[in-house]
Amino acid sequence: MKRLFTLVILFLPMVLSNCQVESKSVATQDEDLNTKLEGVIFQASNQYKFMMENLPENRFPKTYHAKNDKLETSGSGWWCSGFYPGSLLYMYEQNKDAVLLAEAKRIMKVLEKEKFNTTTHDLGFMMFCSFGNALDIAPEDDYKEILIQSAKSLSSRFDEKVGLIKSWDSRQGDYLVIIDNMMNLELLFWASEETGDPTYRDIAITHADNTIKNHFREDYSTYHVVNYNPETGEVNKKHTAQGYSDDSAWARGQAWGLYGYIVMYRFTKDEKYLDVANNIANLILDHPNLPDDKIPYWDFDAPNIPDALRDSSAGAIIASALFELSTYVDKKASKKYFKNAETMLESLSSAPYLAEPKANGGFILKHGVGHIPENTEVDTPLTYGDYYFLEAIKRYKNLSKSSS
Ligand code: GLY
Repeated sequence: MKRLFTLVILFLPMVLSNCQVESKSVATQDEDLNTKLEGVIFQASNQYKFMMENLPENRFPKTYHAKNDKLETSGSGWWCSGFYPGSLLYMYEQNKDAVLLAEAKRIMKVLEKEKFNTTTHDLGFMMFCSFGNALDIAPEDDYKEILIQSAKSLSSRFDEKVGLIKSWDSRQGDYLVIIDNMMNLELLFWASEETGDPTYRDIAITHADNTIKNHFREDYSTYHVVNYNPETGEVNKKHTAQGYSDDSAWARGQAWGLYGYIVMYRFTKDEKYLDVANNIANLILDHPNLPDDKIPYWDFDAPNIPDALRDSSAGAIIASALFELSTYVDKKASKKYFKNAETMLESLSSAPYLAEPKANGGFILKHGVGHIPENTEVDTPLTYGDYYFLEAIKRYKNLSKSSS
């Protein structure tokens, strides 16, 4: 009864909330966030069970259109296909609900064939967020083989002359690399550790080093896309695809860079990667355009701030990344990163970001921004927003446990 009362109190603000992206969460910082997060996981599991009912066979959730109450889905080849099983696994890890695990295993069977996909750089997202997590949470005999084949397919996109994994296939004469690609390197480190073959790790390091050279501006904000000359490896052009302008700091791009260099440090312990990660973290956290609830506008240089849309997915990725970074730095920096990430988590666990039960197509978070220049997924739920939110919760809980 007490638990029910707690849940009612926790979710009352969601029922009462309107849709304006003006978080009220900062005022609730004194609440026990861990207790609140238990309620969030309970709610999130119910949301995903609701989503399952509407998911066509062999399809993956992509986003939801509130206007016509439509769940948009994709095939397994879409870059986001690993997030649905990954989210189910993260929730299962917290609450041991067998329904979530069964659904994760079912959909991973549909996803498995992507291990042979050499047309995308996103195999890290697709296969490591799913099978990679499953290795820890609910392993099966064939998962390692699936991941090793995925690492081989991803490595086939690395070109020695350019020294980078190609992100997007394009016209002849283009060699496009996006900052997001840093997120696919974790799979390669894992593959080298598993097989003893250093090739995968070497590719990851070369890619990350060339990205440091060419993707960042002086203030450590990052371009989205760098186009290289495929014959010489020289930079042809630096620009954006999903940000506001070529020179702006697209929020999710900064988040991918931050997370990516933290992973680089995790596997190599090379201080230069930690330096990059610290610089990106401080750019984000000290930015005059970062709102008080710490959920970024979709682009730090969006023209209509403070009325610009927020991107809850960027907030979730940054929070998860900062929790890890807080474990690698001195006390003062650690406190700064942890506290900011905690505020992000608190914000995302509250109105207006957290979805009301059985709304939002079953997604957990609202107010994500996919691709404004193409006018797709604008102010909607996003599978990766949910995934990194759940990951941030897991990391927060682990860190709180270890410090108590
Ligand atoms: N990787 C694409 C995105 O962040 O939207």
